[in-house]
Amino acid sequence: MPDLAVIVLAAGQGTRMKSATPKVLHRLGGLPLLHHVLDAATALDPAHLLVVVRHERALVGESALEAAPHAVLVDQDDQPGTGRAVEQAVEALPSDFVGDVVVVSADVPFVDRATLEGLLAQHRAASAQVTLLSAILDDPSGYGRVIRKPDQSVARIVEQKDASADELLVSEINSGTYAFTVAALRSHLPAVSSANAQNEKYLTDVVGLVEASGGLVAATPIAEAWRLEGINDRAQLAAAARRLNDRIVRHWQLEGVTILDPATTWIDRDVSLAADVEILPGTQLKGATSVETGAVIGPDTTLVDTEVGEGAVVKRTDATLAVIGARASVGPFAYLRPGTMLGADGKIGTYVETKNATIGEGSKVPHLSYVGDTEVGVGANIGAGTITANYDGVNKHRTVVGSHVRTGSHNVFVAPVRIGDGAYTGAGTVVRKDVPAGSLAINVAPQRNLDGWVETNREGTAAAKAAGAAQAAQAAEASAASTAEGGADAAPAGDS
Ligand code: UD1
Ligand code: CA
Repeated sequence: MPDLAVIVLAAGQGTRMKSATPKVLHRLGGLPLLHHVLDAATALDPAHLLVVVRHERALVGESALEAAPHAVLVDQDDQPGTGRAVEQAVEALPSDFVGDVVVVSADVPFVDRATLEGLLAQHRAASAQVTLLSAILDDPSGYGRVIRKPDQSVARIVEQKDASADELLVSEINSGTYAFTVAALRSHLPAVSSANAQNEKYLTDVVGLVEASGGLVAATPIAEAWRLEGINDRAQLAAAARRLNDRIVRHWQLEGVTILDPATTWIDRDVSLAADVEILPGTQLKGATSVETGAVIGPDTTLVDTEVGEGAVVKRTDATLAVIGARASVGPFAYLRPGTMLGADGKIGTYVETKNATIGEGSKVPHLSYVGDTEVGVGANIGAGTITANYDGVNKHRTVVGSHVRTGSHNVFVAPVRIGDGAYTGAGTVVRKDVPAGSLAINVAPQRNLDGWVETNREGTAAAKAAGAAQAAQAAEASAASTAEGGADAAPAGDS
């Protein structure tokens, strides 16, 4: 078996994306386009994996090495074109390399391992100098067209912008995915010029040069044409995202996951789901999110890099880098920020925001609260409307709540503060000092009622009138009661 090199083309700007982000870093299924292609390239286990970079070199290079740490980055110079990119990559190969070179574009994300293995097998079986993957498309616009001779052998490829009216009618497109012998690249690339509509050195011209010199060019359209779709603009990106998502949803359905509404359910490529998970409409599962069996997610829920335990229920929730324990309940309308760890059987309820908070087994934060930089023991209940005041304007501080604590409604925990095991706090308490285990903390001032204050100070207002009416009604009720007790002639109440 000859040696193998794979060249991934990622130096272009991707002008048609109209984006500050390089095209190959736009995401599909949660991963940059580049990573999809690198995964397929790496699966071939080539002796040399080269990634050609130029536009936003640092960003693209860093991302490439994340997905393929052993890849070699090749810098393309100012001369534009896929031909120049491959020429420089070939120069970076050891001079004694004599094997095959597979070239893939970082903007053709559905090319997978099997597709590349098939390409290489065909190339080697035919002893071709170049084998290209083509496809027949209903709408070939934008692609290079495969021009065949009357005997159906491949003559050359013509780019859309250089094609004649007749050539534009050809529906067989070049996918930009090829196998070459390194010898064919070494002998023909130097001869490729930039005399074309885009003033670029086209890799595709090598095909015509190989043919003209009597070499063998092989091309067979592949059945799964969609695998060869290139992404050049945002409409194509959205269409590809939809296609990938449909495939991912179907995969999980066949693995035993109930997904009621595939159209509004978005699942990233690296998400993992157990059998008998149920996903309700409007749910997005992103990054490395995982969900254990029996859990119900949604509706209208977004989980990013979040772990959900067995049988948990997560409703109308937004969570990032959170861990939700088995049988726990979250939402509706909960916001779990990074570092939230909810124990088994715990609850983060309605209109609750958490961050950097460990909430122990069976502990509950049921209503209207902010809990940040906090540790809560097991079996505790945090009263409705509780705020951890974790930020002093300069630094963040921690709140520690013990096990089986019961805090009253509308508390403020002014951190740093500790509430001991089994302690209680009264409603409306502003906890500024530690509360010892088993104590009741209260610090609200005794209530004073200033009788008649509204009628005196807000005379004529609706409130004053309502107060007056209530007092009159009270007086009438009192006199009726005394009449009933003692009859019409009875002495005033209290005298008898
Ligand atoms: C290319 C092919 C076209 C094919 C299509 C398939 C050429 C001349 N044309 O056209 O026949 O139908 O792909 O999708 O090859 N790149 C570099 N350096 C450069 C220019 C581009 O590395 O100087 C990279 C890009 O980052 C991209 C890939 O090469 O990943 C393809 O470039 P792009 O400009 O998208 O080529 P197309 O016009 O789509
Ligand atoms: Ca392209």
